[in-house]
Amino acid sequence: MSEFIIETNNLTKEFNKFTAVKDVSLKVPKGALYGFLGPNGAGKSTTIRMLLDLMKPTKGTVHIFNKDIRNHRMDILRKVGAMVESPSYYENLTAYENLEITRKILQVDKKEIDKALEIVNLSKWRNKRVKNFSLGMKQRLGIAQALIGDRELLILDEPTNGLDPAGVREIRNLIISLPETMGVTVLISSHILSEIELIADHVGIIRKGSLLFQGTLEELKTKGNREIAIKAKPLKEVENFLRGKGISANNREGTLYIPRRNIDIEELNKTLVLSGYGVSHLSECEKNLEEIFLELTGGIE
Ligand SMILES: Nc1ncnc2c1ncn2[C@@H]1O[C@H](COP(=O)(O)OP(=O)(O)O)[C@@H](O)[C@H]1O
Ligand SMILES: [Mg+2]
Repeated sequence: MSEFIIETNNLTKEFNKFTAVKDVSLKVPKGALYGFLGPNGAGKSTTIRMLLDLMKPTKGTVHIFNKDIRNHRMDILRKVGAMVESPSYYENLTAYENLEITRKILQVDKKEIDKALEIVNLSKWRNKRVKNFSLGMKQRLGIAQALIGDRELLILDEPTNGLDPAGVREIRNLIISLPETMGVTVLISSHILSEIELIADHVGIIRKGSLLFQGTLEELKTKGNREIAIKAKPLKEVENFLRGKGISANNREGTLYIPRRNIDIEELNKTLVLSGYGVSHLSECEKNLEEIFLELTGGIE
């Protein structure tokens, strides 16, 4: 038994000769709000389709609730609520009627529809036809659909795509509340770091089909190669002095940056001052999450 709700092993998908997903081993712990982050085209939706058995992997395995999706498809999917890319609806049916279809398939109580509409804040619009819905309302209806029934896992593929900032905030608050209110594990994909940063406690970063990082958000934050920033005079001499000690400094706009490694800041300060340099600033600086992400992914294409 593993403690992971989702566990994939070397999940790979090739389209002809193109590898869209390559050896991805996801580990999503129970109760996590897992942010699956990567630039457009990184392979998020392809991975998610394989998780949901909407697409067969070229190689690798998917285990959900410790069961292999190949042998326990219905068992697993009954307990997984999903929204993959922009959900489609019967536009001429109302919100309620659309959810009724899902309810019938899952054979659960009608109360489930009321509950889901309440959670996504659509109760007022339950009898309105979906063709009159805004994009945000449709996204919320998609989440409601994913919530119906006895779900233990929610998989949401870019649920805030195409929403205005107010809509994004609303969906974000909704998602953050889900593990507590519904007792579910959530995997949410996004190409926007700030989204994931505000929502997730665990993160997987994918780029060009490969998983580059997986761990807690805290672990990601501490991943930044720390540097020490030095402002001292005369700068050029200080740079040479450091080089003489085997420390290569990077001069960026009048500040020297050296790798943190095993350097004791107090010792360094003493050494510089005792060697006659005027030190006006000495500090340890960490890269922020955005810098770490950009470094990992090489920027968003
Ligand atoms: N059915 C398909 N046939 C061929 N290539 C595909 C198919 N689906 C996705 N791709 C390609 O695989 C890559 C990953 O796509 P996708 O998983 O949709 O990325 P993301 O969801 O991260 O934006 C992209 O280069 C995309 O063009
Ligand atoms: Mg996608």
